[in-house]
Amino acid sequence: MEGTGKTFSVQLRIWRQSNRHAQGHMVQYQVTGITPGMDFLDVLEKLNERLLLRGEDPVVFEYNCREGSCGTCGLIINGDVHGPGQNTVTCRLKMKNFNPGDIITVEPWRIKSFPVIKDLAVDRTALDRILEAGGFISTSLGGAPEANSLSVPKEDAEEALTAASCTGCGACIAACPNGSAALFIAAKLAHLSLLPQGAPERNARTISLVRAAQKEGFGPCCNNGACEQACPRGIKKDLIAKMHSAWIKAILSDR
Ligand code: SF4
Ligand code: FES
Repeated sequence: MEGTGKTFSVQLRIWRQSNRHAQGHMVQYQVTGITPGMDFLDVLEKLNERLLLRGEDPVVFEYNCREGSCGTCGLIINGDVHGPGQNTVTCRLKMKNFNPGDIITVEPWRIKSFPVIKDLAVDRTALDRILEAGGFISTSLGGAPEANSLSVPKEDAEEALTAASCTGCGACIAACPNGSAALFIAAKLAHLSLLPQGAPERNARTISLVRAAQKEGFGPCCNNGACEQACPRGIKKDLIAKMHSAWIKAILSDR
C-alpha cells in the first residue's frame, strides 16, 4: 500500500479515564485517512482533531521529542509495550505495521505505582522519588581533573555510558509481569557506581534506591527478560544481577 497514495482506516479501542480517581473504560473510534508512513501518534492526533470538531474531549497522551530519544510516549498497544517490535518507542511506530480494518487496543502503562492522570497519561514521579533517595553523588568533585589523571577501564566506561542513557521512561516496568523497577534501578546504580567518583557511596546508594523502590510499591524482579526487550535504550538485564550482588555486599557491610 505504501507509495500507492491509498489510505485506510482502523478502529482504535482506547482507554478513557477522566481523572486519577474515576473509573476508566474502553471506547472504540474509527480513524480514516491513514497512510502506512504515518506514525502512531499522528493517528491519535488525527482522532483528536475529529473529536474536537465534534465538541468531544480529546484523548490525552504524552510525548516530547518524537524522535525516539526521551521515552515519554509510552503506550501499551495490543498488549505490547510501545507496540509491536523490541527496543522501540511509540513515536517510531509506523502504521505499516497494521492492516486496514484492524482493531487496535491502546492502553496506558498498567502499573500500580504509575497512576493514570487522564486517559493514556500516567504519573511517573515515583521514579523521581527513587532518584531523590540516592541517585546522585553527594561528595564535592572540585574542578575538572587533568585529562587521563583518573583511569577508568574501557569496559566500565562503556557500561556506565550505556546505563546513563536510561531516560526513566518506565517501559521496563510496564513490560514486567511483577511491575519491577529492577532494570531502571540497576541502570541508575551502574552509571554512578562504575565510575571512581561514584564508588565511595556505592553501598549507601544501593540500599537507598532499592528500599525506595520497595516503598513505592514496585515488585520484585522475576528475571524473565521482558524488561530488556522493552528498553528503548537496549540496557541489558545483566546489570540486574550486578545490582543484586551489590545489594548483598551493601547489606553485609551495613551490619
Ligand atoms: S532501563 Fe530502559 S526501559 Fe527502563 S526506564 Fe531506563 S530507558 Fe526506560
Ligand atoms: S516522544 Fe520522545 S521517544 Fe517518543
